[in-house]
Parts: sequence; structure tokens; C-alpha cells
Amino acid sequence: MSVQAAHPDGAPASAPAPAPDLLEGPAGAPVDPLLPYLEALFTEALDELRYPELRKGVQALSELYVHSRAKGPIATRAADGRGKAAAFRCFYAPLHLIVTRALVRSLPPGPAPRQLVDLGCGSGAAGAALALALAERGVPVELLGLDRVADHLRHARLGWAALGLRGKVKSGALPGALGAPVADAMLVFGWSLNELEPAARAETLLGVERWLRRGAGLLILEPLSLKVSPWWPELRAQLAESGVQEVVFKERIPLPQRLRDLDRAAGLDHQELGCRALWRWPTGA
Ligand SMILES: C[S@@+](CC[C@H](N)C(=O)[O-])C[C@H]1O[C@@H](n2cnc3c(N)ncnc32)[C@H](O)[C@@H]1O
Repeated sequence: MSVQAAHPDGAPASAPAPAPDLLEGPAGAPVDPLLPYLEALFTEALDELRYPELRKGVQALSELYVHSRAKGPIATRAADGRGKAAAFRCFYAPLHLIVTRALVRSLPPGPAPRQLVDLGCGSGAAGAALALALAERGVPVELLGLDRVADHLRHARLGWAALGLRGKVKSGALPGALGAPVADAMLVFGWSLNELEPAARAETLLGVERWLRRGAGLLILEPLSLKVSPWWPELRAQLAESGVQEVVFKERIPLPQRLRDLDRAAGLDHQELGCRALWRWPTGA
């Protein structure tokens, strides 16, 4: 095993030999828009924080999501403190973006949505991933992001613009934020349903069924492990009646250097990325 020397402040000492970066594509191909976006996120974060603070933010967020969910409302605790907020934007959101884009690229084509409604959008990762994957298929979409944390919304709006995507954001809390169904839209829930209280989730899902009946599409993403989403099998059965399918996705995806370094510094291992999804393209009914 080779161990990379580290700076006293925890940042990698020297850039290791560049590993082939899947996100960069073949020589001469346009640069993946994710790379300059990621660079801007890290520049902004490291203007305010030292690298060890960012690393500790990643570790604190990982601990919060995995071990201390029961200690209070997770949405506010995840955004509380500069280290965790920066880790959310620079690390977890880009991982969500990368795995979601890879998953959507693997889906068969279908009727195109005109709008993506990203619920619990955070800094916009899941909606951006779907929009980028659709753009690769020549399908331009507009994004609408909703979240209860105002600071996430500001970053979602700026991030989508940096990625060349058109989108608006609106402050709101589920289940109320779902609003009236739009037939040619697609709902996106990126790792957000598990943060809802059971009653709010049940009401949100009743709303989702209304959108499906109107013909809207759906993409729900959650972790591979059912620990935080034990309700998944029941939801899968319930939504199957509306033609919603499950994908369990796991792939070895070479990460951009920035993420590889932070992953290693935080003692994590994201060489394989995965998630489970429930999805349906709009039916235009
Ligand atoms: C794990 S984060 C995922 C963010 C983003 N979708 C992504 O894929 O990176 C969950 C998000 O759900 C939001 N959230 C939690 N409860 C919510 C509620 N009741 N209404 C709206 N947003 C909520 C949180 O603020 C947070 O941004």
C-alpha cells in the first residue's frame, strides 16, 4: 500500500501523478463542466477555511449522516457551522452529482421533461445531474429548486448558472412545497425523503402520486443501505403501480483529484459510488 505524504495542515503534499480522470474524457474533448465548477467550490471554501477545517467538516457530516441522525432535525444540523456547510457543498453534493449523472446516463431514453422540480435540492446536485445528463441527449430543461435552508438555495442558483443550466430557486418546506402537479415536469428527490418526519414523508408521497397521475416523471435517490430509508421496499411496491421502476446502481467511478484528496484525507473510501433510485420518465398523460 502506498501512503501519500501530507502537508502539516492536512492538505496533500504534492499532486500525485494524475490518474486517468473519467470526467475529463478523451484528449481534445470539451472539459466536463463539473471540473471548473468543482474548482470554484473549493476556491470559495478554502478562502474561508483551512484544509483541516474542511476535512473535519467532511468527517463531522459523515458522522452526522451515519451515526447521529436521531439527535435533532438533520437538515439544520447538516448546515450548521462553516466546516459542515462547506463539506456539504464541496464533497457530498459533488458525489451526489457524479453518481446521479452516471445513473441517469445508464437509463433508457424516454419522453423528455420540460422542467425538473428538485425537492430538498440542497446546493442543487441531483437536479443538476439529471439536467446535465438530459442535455447530453439534446434535451434542454429548466430547473426549479426548493429547500428549507436558504443558504443552500443561494448555492444551488449560483451552481446551476456555473454549470450552464437554467434554474430558479424557492424557499419552502415539504410537504407543502410540492405544489400543484405539472404534467411535463419531473420531480427529483435527491437523498431528501429520508430527512422528512414520517408524517411529512407520507403526505409528500400522496402529492407525488398526484403528480404521477397527471403524467409527471419522477426520480427518487437514496443510499444503497436501507438503514435511513427502511420504508423503501414499501414505497417501491406502492409506486410500481404507476410504472415507477427501481434501479440499484453501483459503479467504480474515478473521482476528480480534489474529491480523491479530500476523501483520503477524511479517511473515507468512495472509489465505488452507489445509490438506489425509483424513476419514471413523464408519460405526458
Ligand atoms: C442530504 S441533502 C441532499 C441535497 C441534494 N438533493 C443533493 O442531492 O445533494 C437533503 C436536503 O433536503 C433538505 N430538506 C430536508 N428536509 C426538508 C423539508 N422538510 N423541506 C425541504 N427540504 C428539506 C435539506 O435542507 C437538504 O438540503
